[in-house]
Amino acid sequence: MTWDTTGTLGMGEVVSNESLANLLREERRFAPPTDLAANANVTAEAYELAKADRLGFWAEQARRLSWETEPTETLDWSNPPFAKWFADGKLNVAYNCVDRHVENGLGDRVAIHFEGEPGDTRAITYAELQREVSQAANALTELGVQAGDRVAIYLPMIPEAVISMLACARIGAPHSLVFGGFSADALATRINDADARVIITADGGYRRGKPSALKPAVDEALTRPGTENVRSVLVVRRTGQDTAWAEGRDVWWHEMVGRQSDQHTPEAFEAEHPLFILYTSGTTGKPKGILHTTGGYLTQISYTHSAVFDLKPESDVFWCTADVGWVTGHSYIVYGPLSNGGTEVLYEGTPDSPHQGRWWEIVQKYGVTILYTAPTAIRACMKWGDDIPAKFDLSSLRILGSVGEPINPEAWMWYRKHIGGDRAPIVDTWWQTETGGMMISPLPGVTETKPGSAQVPLPGIAATVVDDDANEVPNGSGGYLVLTEPWPSMLRTIWGDDQRYLDTYWARFENKYFAGDGAKRDEDGDIWLLGRVDDVMLVSGHNISTTEVESALVSHPKVAEAAVVGATDPQTTQAICAFVILRGGATAEDEGLVDELRAHVAKALGPIAKPKRVLPVAELPKTRSGKIMRRLLRDVAENRALGDVTTLTDSSVMDLIQSQLPGAASED
Ligand code: WT7
Repeated sequence: MTWDTTGTLGMGEVVSNESLANLLREERRFAPPTDLAANANVTAEAYELAKADRLGFWAEQARRLSWETEPTETLDWSNPPFAKWFADGKLNVAYNCVDRHVENGLGDRVAIHFEGEPGDTRAITYAELQREVSQAANALTELGVQAGDRVAIYLPMIPEAVISMLACARIGAPHSLVFGGFSADALATRINDADARVIITADGGYRRGKPSALKPAVDEALTRPGTENVRSVLVVRRTGQDTAWAEGRDVWWHEMVGRQSDQHTPEAFEAEHPLFILYTSGTTGKPKGILHTTGGYLTQISYTHSAVFDLKPESDVFWCTADVGWVTGHSYIVYGPLSNGGTEVLYEGTPDSPHQGRWWEIVQKYGVTILYTAPTAIRACMKWGDDIPAKFDLSSLRILGSVGEPINPEAWMWYRKHIGGDRAPIVDTWWQTETGGMMISPLPGVTETKPGSAQVPLPGIAATVVDDDANEVPNGSGGYLVLTEPWPSMLRTIWGDDQRYLDTYWARFENKYFAGDGAKRDEDGDIWLLGRVDDVMLVSGHNISTTEVESALVSHPKVAEAAVVGATDPQTTQAICAFVILRGGATAEDEGLVDELRAHVAKALGPIAKPKRVLPVAELPKTRSGKIMRRLLRDVAENRALGDVTTLTDSSVMDLIQSQLPGAASED
């Protein structure tokens, strides 16, 4: 099934009765395996302890880390919603993720099993990681990077991405990763907003068996206004392809980093020192720079990675399939697994190259015990067929995780059966770029799981579902997901825009963080996530704002106006569907026009934002105040009877739009 999102996407009408009824029909339950429960890192007691003393609970978790100065304060909430966690403590994140494990005698433990897309491999021990991070930190220092300076990282999924992040953390330079699939324009916007001084990139990376260039996008981005402060570009040689070179600005990683000393003394930073900025799309065009800081972030990431995956660092092999350019990669490829001294897989490529069993081949090869991936990938594997994973030995897997969007019960059951051998518990983890770490999830040794539900807030986390008037909804009802208490890895603000931080998250409900997701509570009080309530689309686990795609479309000379909606799609959760009013004599009949517009958006924002359909129309439905009524367009895009049209300026507009469809659609 797919979620009936009929009522979930318009503010005020959160969840349709139909979708609630569908959810209530889910009756399957899976108890934790007894051996796992008996040896679990976290037991049910954690909920009790955290409930009795939430701040004491987090202060206790902070002791997982090695502090140069132990914090005596836990939370300073005197100026809400600007939180300070562990404010008088000092620590170094890279020291916690690397050096202390070496000091504890674990230098020979493999931190990262790197599997390149062409099949090249590298096992990096903690001792090697310490040397390489130290060299990279020395190189950044030689390039003039000081604590507080921002460094943009635009890399494929190669070890240098992790090393770069840790090197930045080591010298207190906040990193800003830009996903390697983003275009030059998207990169330029992010460089400009963060005022980055150095960029770390590569000549290219491998994708589906071919080298794919990255450096040209950096060169192009640096021709855009607002990027003048970038003084150095550090370039990893990954593919060996020809690369344009700006003398005096560009430096090769193997030369610059290679000749540095592998000794570096980490400096401790205050717990509230900025660790990174990560951009996420908002409802208005400009992406939001989500700011995370040091001590609280690492505390929650380290704790959740250990608790939710029941990580046994001496025996587990962990694999998170996300890209390091998304928050999942930050928290559960870099900071979680490494702060816990774990061993993990880092894979450069896609699941279906050179064959559709590549992931399962990797699980078998490294004996992966914990796999963390996204529903969209699970659905793709389902489509490719049960016989593909069946060819590999997946018996090492003991815990499976899901993140990024609601996982439909059908995919959940497939994941459990065909990947988890009907044995491994699934943890469906709800969180966001803004929350930094997991917030709602089962615990694998404690929770009886239900297909499709993220279930309960983790120990120390306060989340609930409220109605329009901020009242908690009774069991069996739907509403908005809110977080009612501050948490250690919460965003601290939107980079350079405190007001937007307040408006976006704290204005909708007093004293509560508004997550922007619809949710329901079932009769047991468990939480089910139902998708975004605003105009952000969720495409293959990534948030893409309608406004960003609209502004890309209207930047094309043949487009006068555009309205974009996410239409329910079985493969990608939502598919981008664009309605455009043409200009300059262009008509819907023009050969190749639709493809030209789709390509234009892909160039502006990256391939992930490419609309699946572009539909030229004569008019768009608007309210009297001039707001586009996306809800009605979604009805059209999902072939549904129109909802309420009474607030339309001109109701004949919808008749006109429907009379023009279909025929103008394009799909690939
Ligand atoms: C949005 C956050 C968290 C890292 C990846 C995405 C959706 C995330 C779940 C889940 C239902 C989920 C929400 C959330 N989401 N995890 N387990 N069940 N929905 O990070 O790009 O910041 O997106 O992803 O809508 O608000 P993000």
